[in-house]
Order: sequence, then C-alpha cells, then structure tokens
Amino acid sequence: MDQQEALKRIAKLRELIAYHNRRYYQLDDPEISDVEYDRMMRELIDLEEQFPDAGLAESPTRRVGAAPLEKFSPFNHLTPMLSLANTYSEDEITEFDERIKRYLGMTDAVSFCVEPKIDGVAVNLVYENGTLTVGATRGDGQVGEDVTQNIKTIHSIPRVIKKTASVPVPQSIEIRGEVYIEKEAFQRLNRRRIEAGEPPFANPRNAAAGSLRQLDSRITAGRPLNLFCYALGQTVGRQFKTHWEIIQTLNHWGFPVNPLIEQAGDIQSCVHYYQLMNERRKQLPYEIDGVVIKVNDLSFQDRLGAVSRSPRWAVACKFEALQETTEIIDIQVSVGRTGALTPVAVMRPVNVGGVVVSRATLHNQDEIDKKDIRIGDTVIIQRAGDVIPDVVKVVESKRTGAERKFVMPATCPGLHPDGPICGAPVVRIEGESAYRCIGLSCPAQISEHIKHFASRGAMDIDGLGEKMVNQMVVAGLISDPADLFYLTKDQLLALERMADKSAQNLLDAIERSKKPTLQKFIYALGIRHVGEHIAGILARQFLTLDAVMQASAENLKGIREIGPEVAGSITKFFAQTGNRRVIEKLLEAGVAPLEMVKPEKESSPLAGKSFVFTGSLAKMTRTEAKSLVEALGAKATESVTKNLDYLVAGDTPGSKLQKARALGVPILNEDDFFRLINPD
Ligand code: IVH
Repeated sequence: MDQQEALKRIAKLRELIAYHNRRYYQLDDPEISDVEYDRMMRELIDLEEQFPDAGLAESPTRRVGAAPLEKFSPFNHLTPMLSLANTYSEDEITEFDERIKRYLGMTDAVSFCVEPKIDGVAVNLVYENGTLTVGATRGDGQVGEDVTQNIKTIHSIPRVIKKTASVPVPQSIEIRGEVYIEKEAFQRLNRRRIEAGEPPFANPRNAAAGSLRQLDSRITAGRPLNLFCYALGQTVGRQFKTHWEIIQTLNHWGFPVNPLIEQAGDIQSCVHYYQLMNERRKQLPYEIDGVVIKVNDLSFQDRLGAVSRSPRWAVACKFEALQETTEIIDIQVSVGRTGALTPVAVMRPVNVGGVVVSRATLHNQDEIDKKDIRIGDTVIIQRAGDVIPDVVKVVESKRTGAERKFVMPATCPGLHPDGPICGAPVVRIEGESAYRCIGLSCPAQISEHIKHFASRGAMDIDGLGEKMVNQMVVAGLISDPADLFYLTKDQLLALERMADKSAQNLLDAIERSKKPTLQKFIYALGIRHVGEHIAGILARQFLTLDAVMQASAENLKGIREIGPEVAGSITKFFAQTGNRRVIEKLLEAGVAPLEMVKPEKESSPLAGKSFVFTGSLAKMTRTEAKSLVEALGAKATESVTKNLDYLVAGDTPGSKLQKARALGVPILNEDDFFRLINPD
C-alpha cells in the first residue's frame, strides 16, 4: 500500500471506529461484534505504525489519551482487596458451612451465592458520581497499580454507570472483577505472537496480566480483554442487603456479570454446583479454576468478618488440575543462569483445558529416573493454574520397546535453540540433583545472567528481552552485564531488525537504569541464594556496596535469616576476581547504586519525623522508600494531617498533595527527599 492509499484507509478507519465507539459507548447499541471492532482497531494500529505521518493526536487508537507511561503509579485501594481461602474437596466445603453456622450461632441452613472462579486478573474500578475515574490491579491487596488508561480500552467496562429509574447510582463506588481472555482469543493472540517472532504467553491468565500491564495502552487496546464483575469495595450513597442484590444491580448498571452465578439455599446445593461446573468447565469459552461460594446475606458477612486477608464468609473451591495424555517427541536441555541443565520434554501438542501445550519441564535427572520417563513415551501431563505442565506419569502399557532413555549430555549444549554451542564439560556436584555446565564463557549462562541483571526486580532495563539479549550475546557485543553500559548505537544498529528508534530507546533505558537502589543492584548481581528479600536485608544491614563486598562469612551469619549456605555463597561471589572486575566495570560506567543511610536512630536528623509518600518515585518503589525512612528512625504513614512533617510527591501524585498544600505541610520532590536523607 502506498502512502496516499494508507492515509486514506487510516482516515476511513478512524471515522468508522469513532462511529462504532459512539454506538457502543453512548447509544449502548453496537452494530458490529467485538471481533470485527478489534479487527478494525488492529488494522488501524498497524497502519499508524507503518505510516507515522498520519499523526496520532486525533486517532481513536489514542482515545484513551496520554502517551506511553514510564511506569504505573501506585493506587491505594479505598478498601483492601481480599483474597480467598481455598478448599479442595467436598468435605472441606461442608466444613466451611459448619464453621459459619458455629460462628453465627445458627442451626438453620445458610444461603449462598455460587459463582465460577474466573482464572484471570483481579481489578478494582472506581466510579465517582457514576464515571470511571480509576482502574487498578490488585497488587498486594492494599496498593495496586493504576492502569486506568488500559482499563479504558476494555470495551465491556462501562465508562459511565448506566442510569435506570429503579437503581440509583451511588456517589462513589469501587467495583471489583476479573479481567480475562477467552480461550479461543488466547490461541489467536499466541498464533499472532509466534508469527511475529514474539514469545507466546503460557496461558490466558498470563496473557491478561501482561496485557493489562502494558505501558502503551494502544497495545492493550489490541488485546481481547474481557471482564466479569463479582464484588464491591467501598460504597458511598447506596446500601445492599444481599450479594445477589449486588450482582443484579451490577447487571442493571451495565457491568458484565457472569450469567452462571446462582443462589443456593444450602451447602448441598453448593456442592452440587461445584460438581456441575467441574463437568462443564471444559466447554466454557473462558478458563475457570474452581467455584466461589459466598454467604448471601450481607449482615452475616459483616458479622463473619475476615481473618488474615481472607473473608470468613467466602471460600474458593478449586478443581483438580486438568490432565491429558500425549507423547514425548524429544527431551532437550536448557541451561540456566547458574549453569544448571534442565531437561525439557518436547511433546506432541495437546489441548489441556483450553490451552495447547507442547513443552513440559522434567526438572532434573532424578525426576526422570524416578518416573522412568523415556523419549517416545506416552505420558499423562497436568496443568495446574499458571504453571507449565508437569509430567505426572508414564503410561507403561503404551510402551513399544522403541523408547529411548535420556542421557544428560557430557558437554554443554549452550544457547538454545540456534545459538552457539558452549561445549564445556557438564558435571554433577556431590549432593546436588542438578548437572551443571562449568564453562566460564558459556553463552547460555551469560545470556541468562544478563537477562536476570536487566529484569524487573533488578536493574529494570525496559525493552531488554530474551531475544535481544541472545542476539547481542551471539553477536559478541556483550559477555557480562557491565558490557551493556558500553554499547554504542552503531553496534546496536548492526543487529538484525534493529531500527534507529528502538536502538535509541534501548540506550535510553540502559542509561535510566544507572541509579538503582542498593537492594536492586545486589539482587541484579545474581549471587546464588540471594533473591530480592535477602538483597534487601544486605542493603539495610551494610548500607554501602563496599561494606557488602567486604562482609565476612562470620559477619553475614550473624544476621537473622542468613544461614551458612547463603553466607558462603555471598563471600565466594565477591572473592572471585572475575565478579569484582565486572562490578568495577559497572561502577566505571557510571552505575551508582543509591547508598542507604546510617540508621543512627537517635542521632539521625529524621528521628521521630513522619513521612507520607504519594505518586510514583523514579528511583525506588514506595515500599522501599518507606523502609528507608524507617531505617532512619522516622515513620512512614498513609494519611496527611497537619502534624505530618513531610509529604514526598513523586510522579502523578494523588489528592494527598492537594491536602498537604492546604494544610501547609512541607512538600518534597524526589530529589529533595534524597538530599534530605543523604546530605553528602
Ligand atoms: S470474590 C473477598 N469472586 O480469585 C472476595 N473472586 O483467590 C474477593 N476470583 O483475588 C474475591 N473469580 O481474583 C471472587 N467469582 C469470583 C472470582 C474471584 C475469580 C479471583 C479474584 C480473587 C481470587 C481469590
């Protein structure tokens, strides 16, 4: 298509989409199916990408406004988003009923609502005076991520609560539900990704979560996301008597609710519903992993309350993992960051509960031996929730004698699938189940190591995915994490399929990552046994990178939560010249982990001061910032009062900033804050 034709088509598509948006959102009378709408949207996004001259300002692909975000702002749920206690058997379901009756002092049957448990991503939608103002992920239940832009691209979510004469709209309400992708749409999405050379999603839930967390909402707009609503959070200006009434009202207001939700007069009917859904789940167009039973009467719910983040009035009844039979075509080996070789079964693709799977991890040689798994075997595999399937057992009656035993290679196969071979010896270390490649320049280990270094909880280098790292390792551009900081644009441009803009974006992302917190930096180093949690402990304990590097095993063992194995692994890591060299090279390149400040609680100028954080900080998460001030003897709180000492406002601060201004509370931006805690 030439430019002129493309511009014409773009204009036409924009006009059509604007028309259908109006039919859908304002008139509530769509003329076309979602699939057709999505197709048009997809075509428009593609054309706009190919022909940037068309401009984007007026485009409906941008109807959600705003340019791609750097990252999401945290959002404090107005009431916590609880999770559910799980049950796995019919007995446990009846125990749940008995517990409730005991608690309420009742002998009569309690009535319930029963619902499919949708396997998706929980979201919280805030409506003020009937208009959607915020859409957030669940996060840790208290604080989620503000993904409003993305939520607004989901067609089934009303922007405005539908007014009906009989059901008044509340002043302010939190509506909770599950964002999910239908099984078929998931398959299509994955097919498209594979064609485009992108890694497929493991399952519909991951696909939904990944789509909801896109910084560029145009990408979310092209994903087939749906919603089912099933609960309320804070509600101002409206009261309900039963959960069933809530569900009906949500329906009247125009929210999608699952048509399979039912009332159940007693626990026996719930058990029956559970059995029925277990039989029907395969035929449903979306994945469910159980059913949820909820006490219907809200006054009972109130009395029952919650225990450790789960309500006593509801329970999730999980289904057994789905099993299928398939054959093992081959057993391949993948090499991890620490050189461990993991055997992976390549199988005849099989549909397990709506998801086609073709690979399963076999964990290690012991596992293969224990289950006597051979190439050519017919096996039963199972998929439980999000995980890649497991091989449950071999169907021995299907053996023909042609099966072959798997032998761990004696030399390392290197970067998989098409990369260079490493060839270093593979050894099994005494007392370990894993076989390891001992090659110092193993391309697979290097690549895994760098991927870890760049990952989210570590240096968080945006856009540095698996493929890109592999490509750079193969091209010899990088052989340790520090090399990333010496890359030039010309080097990147020489890579296959690398455009000027993506090269610049990557260089910018690398540059932006240069000031990690000490915790993230330590974690990024990839020391064995040092996850994010231990990295945090080390950072708080030793305060500077130097001190961590010099810590003795004795010193380390003195810290609660650090045992001899972890301590040994840390000292061994820093004793290796190669590792010290990489760290030096990182520091020389300008990587400067933010040092922690001494927790001299009494003498600290911050001792006894109070802080509130709002908006998102660039250098650390709010949780990290809070523990930082706490380490200095100050207090981190949530509410802005006139006695507050400091409000620290990051990007896109919320109403707390206005409140602090009104009360005359000192306001710091992120830089002021760091100057305050780290005056030198
Ligand atoms: S009710 C306090 N209902 O399951 C009750 N949750 O394991 C809050 N989920 O975080 C949840 N379908 O993401 C509820 N019909 C349903 C659900 C459902 C799926 C998810 C939800 C929740 C998780 C708890």
